[in-house]
Amino acid sequence: TVLVVDFGAQYAQLIARRVRECHVYSEIVPSTMPVEEMLAKKPRAIILSGGPASVYADGAPQAPEGLFETGVPTLGICYGFQVMAQALGGAVERTGRSEYGRTEFEASTDSLLFRTLPQQQTVWMSHGDAVSRAPEGFRITGRTAGAPVAAMEAPERGLFGVQFHPEVLHTEHGQAVLRHFLYEGAGCRPTWTMVNIVEEQVERIRAQIGTKRVICGLSGGVDSAVAGALVQKAVGDQLTCVFVDHGLLRKGEAEQVEKDFVAATGATLKVVDAQERFLKALAGVTDPETKRKIIGREFIRVFEQAAREVVAEAGDGDEAVEFLVQGTLYPDVVESGGGTGTANIKSHHNVGGLPDDLQFTLVEPLRELFKDEVRKVGEELGLPAEMVWRQPFPGPGLAIRIIGEVTAERLAILREADAIAREELTRAGLDRDIWQCPVVLLADVRSVGVQGDGRTYGHPVVLRPVTSEDAMTADWARLPYEVLATISNRITNEVREINRVTLDITSKPPGTIEWE
Ligand code: XMP
Repeated sequence: TVLVVDFGAQYAQLIARRVRECHVYSEIVPSTMPVEEMLAKKPRAIILSGGPASVYADGAPQAPEGLFETGVPTLGICYGFQVMAQALGGAVERTGRSEYGRTEFEASTDSLLFRTLPQQQTVWMSHGDAVSRAPEGFRITGRTAGAPVAAMEAPERGLFGVQFHPEVLHTEHGQAVLRHFLYEGAGCRPTWTMVNIVEEQVERIRAQIGTKRVICGLSGGVDSAVAGALVQKAVGDQLTCVFVDHGLLRKGEAEQVEKDFVAATGATLKVVDAQERFLKALAGVTDPETKRKIIGREFIRVFEQAAREVVAEAGDGDEAVEFLVQGTLYPDVVESGGGTGTANIKSHHNVGGLPDDLQFTLVEPLRELFKDEVRKVGEELGLPAEMVWRQPFPGPGLAIRIIGEVTAERLAILREADAIAREELTRAGLDRDIWQCPVVLLADVRSVGVQGDGRTYGHPVVLRPVTSEDAMTADWARLPYEVLATISNRITNEVREINRVTLDITSKPPGTIEWE
């Protein structure tokens, strides 16, 4: 394990991901964690993240007491680098020469971190303070115009520091720097591979579930599918997957769950067709929050009922279902505190926030994984690419992309338009460049058009293509005009009720990604 000590939420996750890209397992811990607790995790290496504070400011987070005396190889990045320098007797000052963004960096040839790398390289900087004097026993291994000590190391003691951000893609050789630290500086071995992840999780799931029965709610999304497939691989017939078809999925998605998932995994699937029920519950409702509440409530009721049926069908009573699979991911764990003392930014509910009286023990095989790793595991398990690479899609589905009342007819219209947009984006090879592209039906708006020889009076749809890192912020995607033109032509030609296609060019903030 490599511990990434978090001095400021933004940076730690990216560092942890880059470490894992070097095939070394990493975990994020808060900077307030006592050293003994860190050592109990038997870390091979420690990385101190960047952070927003000034090391000499009042109340600025410091390195845990005794951290640099543990003998565990440690790399300090940006703020973590300054913390290290200060704690070991160097000096950190506001030099008045802050550097933000791409910066020219001159590396020493006599350095473990920069070994084999070009002397001149571009790095990504973001600092106001700088280390003005390295601690005794450290070699200065890099400089920039604004930072005379932009990197330092004492390899005999296993200590390294860089002012720049190796985890950011704009740092030309960032990944190589991390690799050198991990492999040569800390003696880590590249054992964190998809095959190992799958094997390890399968073992753990078997140990947890034993011979009991387990249930998994499928939503059509990546996480629940991969979690379900892992559990299926581990305990086979003990698993029943439940898919509540609320009728708010996009074209082909319900079929994907019902056919492709089952074909790929061999899992037992119970499909509950609740389309009528959801439509009825949504009739006449236009307020976004009310829609969400209704869908959440109905979902829980239907799922509970299905779970009880699975229990009943399981037969003899003492073989009752005891475990529930959830597709909780590592960022969810980190963000909801994760038991590590990190700030509780938001609490997450999968499967629509099931009530406590369902009394299941949770099985969360993705708790340690990032989204990109979940996708790789999904591929490793043979799930269909459309499922594994599916873009984020909200739990309440198309209901919150119909502005106005949700009806069967409107759902059908939106489904067609959305399918065309998705098809053309895929054809243009843009799927992995954009985060997602909601298509929104302005169902209560009508506009005049002309088609053939006649006047039309149809509805507009809005294309909402966005780029994003984590959905917290987003920008509208600058799609090529030709792709937009094709989507527009096809939708207005092929979906009779739609006579206008518009483009949403709002970033988030101020707009959210979804319209409701
Ligand atoms: P907003 O609209 O808040 O969306 O910018 C951010 C991301 O979250 C998705 N989203 C949801 N996902 N249940 C979900 O599982 C929901 O109720 C929900 N609402 C929005 C949205 O698609 C985007 O990726």
